[in-house]
Amino acid sequence: MSAAATTTTAVQLTVETPEQMQDLGHRLAAVLRAGDLVLLTGALGAGKTTLARGLGAGLGVRGAVTSPTFVIARVHPSVSGGPPLVHVDAYRLGGGLEEMEDLDLDVSLPESVVVVEWGEGKVEELAEDRLHVVIERRTGAAGAAEGPDAAEAADEPDVRHVTLTGVGERWAHGALAALARA
Ligand SMILES: Nc1ncnc2c1ncn2[C@@H]1O[C@H](COP(=O)(O)OP(=O)(O)OP(=O)(O)O)[C@@H](O)[C@H]1O
Ligand SMILES: [Mg+2]
Repeated sequence: MSAAATTTTAVQLTVETPEQMQDLGHRLAAVLRAGDLVLLTGALGAGKTTLARGLGAGLGVRGAVTSPTFVIARVHPSVSGGPPLVHVDAYRLGGGLEEMEDLDLDVSLPESVVVVEWGEGKVEELAEDRLHVVIERRTGAAGAAEGPDAAEAADEPDVRHVTLTGVGERWAHGALAALARA
């Protein structure tokens, strides 16, 4: 592995509502460009698709970004000459890459922004660099129900803690700085 591939930069944010999560996606879209790979990690209902919806809006792509229940990947072409958004739900993708290639997407991944839910450990090889977005919901965490945080957690069921970690040269030069300024 080259030194560049291990370069990481991180930004942490608190996202209080679904609207704020979409807004984060919108702002992230302004940072993204063709060839970028974004991995969305978080439990069921964490807000991965909500973030992807904001991304689609920010990129100005056609078609509603929804949970791809019956398909693994959906291509949303740009309506403004920008890169298409390829939205992948890798939940049922066992092996990862080979199955991705079998999807026979009618689009070139290096010319697209590729966003993958449940992609961690499966699709990293699609691009040299990548952005990991981890969405955590700290309510209901083990022990919290009886701990001193229980009341606080119950009061804030919508709060999400989002960590964006850029891996590789692409993210090494302040690309995420615009997101840190809320
Ligand atoms: N702060 C928040 N950020 C994002 N979503 C929130 C927030 N608070 C509440 N929600 C709600 O949580 C749900 C998130 O659903 P979403 O489909 O985005 O999750 P997901 O991570 O894609 O789930 P899945 O693993 O099933 O694909 C939505 O109903 C949304 O309205
Ligand atoms: Mg989803």
